[in-house]
Amino acid sequence: MGLVALGVTGGIGAYKAVEVARGLQKRGHEVVAVMTHSATRFVGAVTFEAITRRRVITDQFEDGMNADIEHIALASTIDLLLIAPATANIIGKLANGIADDFLSTLYTATRAPLLIAPAMNTQMFAHEAVRRNLDTLAARGARFVEPGEGYLACGWIGKGRLAEPDEIVAAADAILRPEGPLRGQRVLVAAGPTYEDFDPVRYIGNRSSGRMGYAIAAEAARRGAAVTLVTGPTTIEAPAVREVVKVRGAGEMHQAVMARAGGMDVVVMAAAVADYTPVNRAAQKVAKDADTLTLVLKKTPDILGELGQRRLAAGSGPVLVGFAAETEDVIAHASAKRERKHADLIIANDVSRTDAGFDVDTNAVTIVAASGAESLPLQSKARVAAAILDRVERLLTSRAIKA
Ligand code: PMT
Repeated sequence: MGLVALGVTGGIGAYKAVEVARGLQKRGHEVVAVMTHSATRFVGAVTFEAITRRRVITDQFEDGMNADIEHIALASTIDLLLIAPATANIIGKLANGIADDFLSTLYTATRAPLLIAPAMNTQMFAHEAVRRNLDTLAARGARFVEPGEGYLACGWIGKGRLAEPDEIVAAADAILRPEGPLRGQRVLVAAGPTYEDFDPVRYIGNRSSGRMGYAIAAEAARRGAAVTLVTGPTTIEAPAVREVVKVRGAGEMHQAVMARAGGMDVVVMAAAVADYTPVNRAAQKVAKDADTLTLVLKKTPDILGELGQRRLAAGSGPVLVGFAAETEDVIAHASAKRERKHADLIIANDVSRTDAGFDVDTNAVTIVAASGAESLPLQSKARVAAAILDRVERLLTSRAIKA
């Protein structure tokens, strides 16, 4: 059962959102209604309050409601942001990152999946600007309940009428209770680089873009898993998963992963974690007076190795998947790494290729398991992610059979 923020914007279909709220509750979900100012002109906040039995949010800066910055507090607790009806205006704001009221601010602050039920005049729905904004949101992972066709309140006949409440509720329910082979499984994915600071402006980093790990997180979520993504600094958009934890250095990544790994069924370490970090971080910017600069580095904690040791000692624990970025003897090095770190799978990528490994959309990997190695052709990281999760599913199934 999930908590749904039901965004209601200013369209004639706003009255149908009351039925949507009721339908969600009937399916066991909790609803908090967030109304834009224009929505309140079509239907009263008190109607939603009576149905949801929660205060209805209509204003960003209501007196007495700002002690714990409400949009941030709500953003981290909701399981779904559903906007029904969604006007061309809110769609434009979300697509372009405009956050000038509670609902649009909530969107930028939350990592919960977004479901949009657009409703507007036929011509508006077909307008290039609206289409482009819808495409932008779709590319970010937003899902839609298409508007219906027929007589519109404005007198036109065509596409634009808010979808029926039952249809909207079913679409929301499907997101909140995803079907799929990984349904009920908790998957942690660590992705991206780590940055090891040695003064306030400089760091040692690497070329990981996060793409490989993000593709695994997205695919695991699509298969129904509750996904936690622990990510180093990246410039790409995180997929819509249960939790995104942003970290910077290897120490922070270590802490974030170890704190959560106990509750996981699967941990995938796709991150390129720094092996060494500066012993000291200078408080002030290091001056460039000298011709050479010597940095003294110390080893970082081996997160995957520690998880492997922990599982060995406990006799049980999550399925462990690691990656190996290699430039020579790829399979031999990956096999040795798998044994040393007590992982189930090591995904070896030959990072000497320009079309595989770091910062490209494709990868060519060999999946190394105790039973042998399987080399896959060059393909998109999304497809590599699917192949890895197929193997993970097989491991989970064979564990369940043995248990
Ligand atoms: O992010 P992209 O641009 O898409 O690129 C993807 C990738 C090349 C970064 C990815 O596919 C990959 O290979 N990640 C692992 C790179 C790496 O650090 O390999 P490694 O051989 O140094 O480490 C082996 C394993 O131990 C990895 O799972 C790593 O996450 C883990 N490790 C390493 C060091 C450390 N201190 N702790 C760890 O847990």
